[in-house]
Amino acid sequence: MSTGFLGTRASWAADLNLIVQIVLLVGLVVDRILAKRHNLTGHHTWMTAVVAIDAVMIIAIMNPSFFRLLPFAWQRLGALGPMVLWLHAVVALLAELMGLYAVLAVRMDLPESLRTRRLKWFMRINFLLWVLALVAGIVLYWGRYM
Ligand code: HEM
Repeated sequence: MSTGFLGTRASWAADLNLIVQIVLLVGLVVDRILAKRHNLTGHHTWMTAVVAIDAVMIIAIMNPSFFRLLPFAWQRLGALGPMVLWLHAVVALLAELMGLYAVLAVRMDLPESLRTRRLKWFMRINFLLWVLALVAGIVLYWGRYM
């Protein structure tokens, strides 16, 4: 039986995760606006918060769920649902790791060469991967619970 609060077949954890992930993307958009306005303190604070909250959601909700779904996803590699799951897990993990690296790069005062133009491109790619991960996550939610 559903324990969620969005009126679908999802659990409360999946509903909470869906809402939090959408809010985090809004956070990343705000973060990009701050970066464009050269508000670096605000930019670093938002980025750190988004990456940290997402790490908690991955560890507490999505990672356990991933390992529950793994046997099924492994046996039916060619099916659409498992393909979306693999795409989501790989792209999302990459996006989170890149975000983590960016946070460490600015917080730990890495050499200037890693923080200038290259870091800008890094952040743009990170944002695109994050959006792709969110879209795949929403498709997963839709496929499983609606
Ligand atoms: C940028 C990082 C990530 C974003 C934006 C994201 C987004 C989402 C969203 C919106 C959902 C649908 C809500 C739900 O069903 O819980 C979801 C589900 C899921 N995600 Fe992620 N996710 C991210 C990272 C990851 C990672 C790293 C993994 C792999 C361990 C992962 C595995 C899963 C799984 C297995 C589900 C299905 C959960 C379930 O319904 O039982 N996600 N994700």
